[in-house]
Amino acid sequence: MTDQSHPVVSARGLTKRYRDVLAADGVEFELEPGTITGFLGPNGAGKTTILRMLLGLVQPTVGEALVVGHRYLELEQPARRVGAVLESDDFDPGRSARNHLRALALAIGASRGRVQEMLELVELEASANRLVRTYSLGMRQRLGLAAALLGEPELLLLDEPANGLDPAGVHWLRGFLRRFADQGGTVLIASHVLAEIAQTVDQVVIIDGGRLIATVRLDELADSPHSLEGLYLELTAKASA
Ligand SMILES: Nc1ncnc2c1ncn2[C@@H]1O[C@H](COP(=O)(O)OP(=O)(O)OP(=O)(O)O)[C@@H](O)[C@H]1O
Ligand SMILES: [Mg+2]
Repeated sequence: MTDQSHPVVSARGLTKRYRDVLAADGVEFELEPGTITGFLGPNGAGKTTILRMLLGLVQPTVGEALVVGHRYLELEQPARRVGAVLESDDFDPGRSARNHLRALALAIGASRGRVQEMLELVELEASANRLVRTYSLGMRQRLGLAAALLGEPELLLLDEPANGLDPAGVHWLRGFLRRFADQGGTVLIASHVLAEIAQTVDQVVIIDGGRLIATVRLDELADSPHSLEGLYLELTAKASA
């Protein structure tokens, strides 16, 4: 599924300055194939900015963001390599989910059958012909996931994808991400729900004030007195002290 010769994500000294705000400050990390990584940090830490740099939506002030070994904008078929669900994803409210996915499928060369499969996967089939305008928050998240998966990508970049999902949806997402990673896929998932993250991920990357403050494998935490929440609160308190 994945070319094993390079990390799937490589953040190299990623820095983004907005006037007087350093949204990212020399962030370095790499993600190996087949892993799920939680991307943690307080509000305003720089998570979304870094995800947007990985997707070529924000130009780094300094440094380089590589996905599957390349700058996103230099990928030949980006939707077939990388799928993303961002905070600000918006869909044409006057289209149905099915039409939205069909238009996207046409653009990236995916089949109608794949559209149907994705609608079933995210359990939107029953409401697929309704206008997106009438969708609930969780339904929009499901549509975002379906869109991200349409091209059968090997890397998923998710910005709080469980926001708005009902408990069954969160449970489904966890299982889905685990199967995706077991088949060699790689996931970077920003979330504030640490309990949900702790059950899903192999490791966490924690940033605060635009800086990387820790990368922790969850199996290293298993025997320690720290819960993920305890560790996170301790590290982020230190970083902002
Ligand atoms: N387009 C922009 N112009 C100016 N400042 C920005 C812009 N985008 C982000 N910032 C600033 O960069 C910093 C990092 O923001 P970012 O959205 O990356 O944080 P985050 O970790 O995703 O936070 P949250 O957990 O609230 O989603 C914040 O101080 C934010 O105000
Ligand atoms: Mg954010």
